[in-house]
Amino acid sequence: MEDNEKFIVRGGRPLVGEIKLAGAKNAATKLLVATLLTDEECIFENFPRIGDVEVVKELCAILGSEIRAIDSHLVIHTPEIKTTRVASLHRRNRIPILALGPLLNRKGEAEVPIVGGDKIGPRPVDMHLESLKELGAKIEINDNFYRASVSGRLKGADITLKYPSVGATEQVILASVLADGKTTVSNSAVEPEIMDLIKFLQKMGAIIELGTNRTITIHGVPKLHGARHKILPDRNEAVSFACLAVATNGRILVNGAEQDHLITFLNDLRRIGGEYEVVGDGILFWRARPLTAVRIETDTHPGFMTDWQQPFLTMLTQANGESSIHETVYEDRFGYTRDLNLMGADIKVVDACLGNLPCRFKDKKCPHSAIVKGPTPLHGAKLKVPDLRAGMAHILAALIAEGESEISGVFEIDRGYEKIVERLSFLGADIKRVSN
Ligand code: EPU
Repeated sequence: MEDNEKFIVRGGRPLVGEIKLAGAKNAATKLLVATLLTDEECIFENFPRIGDVEVVKELCAILGSEIRAIDSHLVIHTPEIKTTRVASLHRRNRIPILALGPLLNRKGEAEVPIVGGDKIGPRPVDMHLESLKELGAKIEINDNFYRASVSGRLKGADITLKYPSVGATEQVILASVLADGKTTVSNSAVEPEIMDLIKFLQKMGAIIELGTNRTITIHGVPKLHGARHKILPDRNEAVSFACLAVATNGRILVNGAEQDHLITFLNDLRRIGGEYEVVGDGILFWRARPLTAVRIETDTHPGFMTDWQQPFLTMLTQANGESSIHETVYEDRFGYTRDLNLMGADIKVVDACLGNLPCRFKDKKCPHSAIVKGPTPLHGAKLKVPDLRAGMAHILAALIAEGESEISGVFEIDRGYEKIVERLSFLGADIKRVSN
């Protein structure tokens, strides 16, 4: 990971113009893993060129994939799994663990590195591993690897997740599409990116049913074939650009933004004084009145997404009154607010649950609610990005602030946002990338 670049940002300009969303990071990475389930060629359109995808391309290449990228098209073909052991890529991101199911299905054994990802709490993978055991896999863990094996085929099972985890739901789907018999996942996650994975698997020949109450049923089939798929637009990018429009008092048309992926966000944006219009195949965002405070709780889809709270909270520093955000998905995702306070914000992070949603962190000592008092003028500062989404909070804060900010650790931002400097400059931002 390169850590020798910084962004220099001068704030105070409204961002105005039109921008096109890249394909969703959190779909593209899983779709690449899904292609390991077939020995035929798969083609993706709208494929994002971001750091996290490069890690997964490396993973697939180690396993035997031939990959070609042409503009935003990506062609991937894994005629043969050349090895079932991935000896590198430790703690780079959270995707390698999802290769366990495809490898077990094709080869009966797998060894993949321990997951990494953002520093936003402990992020256990117990549900991934328990689910694979329920499907008949034997699992061993050491400091560096997860090792899995199965004699014969994985066998369908009834699995109930203790929490609707995105990754664990994907793990079960990827492991059970080629399993023997029927698998049900109760209390599954239903994020749009999971629906995109299901659509792609259907095109490959899978049989997957969506039931009521977060139940997904997978009927195992003996073989999957190649498929072509256009990746859904990145809703996290959409929210970032919407917040940039409203926070800088600009006006941005976000092409590709899909209303049905953003329902909760659009409601909260309007509550605080932002406005939007669904036009053509995009959404236009602007500020309709002076911003006012709101109370928000993050949740699994279709709730307010945890990946949206960072730009939203940063925007709330400009809203009149006292806002709060109760983070119910991750126990430690407000670290970036220390930097916002250095820039002049008034944010207090507390252990209490500031809201009514059921919360796994109730009575635990973890800083998972934030109180934001505003409006507060922000001034430029030296910032270090702790994780990808916090990076967008930093960029947004720097663009609102008076004066110059220096943002380091920008490889975290590059993991998830394609050509961010070029695209923000196109909207009128004063931002440049410099080498240390
Ligand atoms: N969890 C467990 N055990 C497990 C799995 C998860 O306790 O076996 C807990 C986690 O610790 C967390 C909660 O369940 O408290 C939710 O985790 P989930 O599994 O849903 O998240 P994930 O699959 O690891 C994906 C995205 C995240 C996004 C979350 C929630 C990817 C690669 N990552 O993570 O995106 O925040 O879902 O929607 O898809 C990002 O893009 O910046 C990012 C962090």
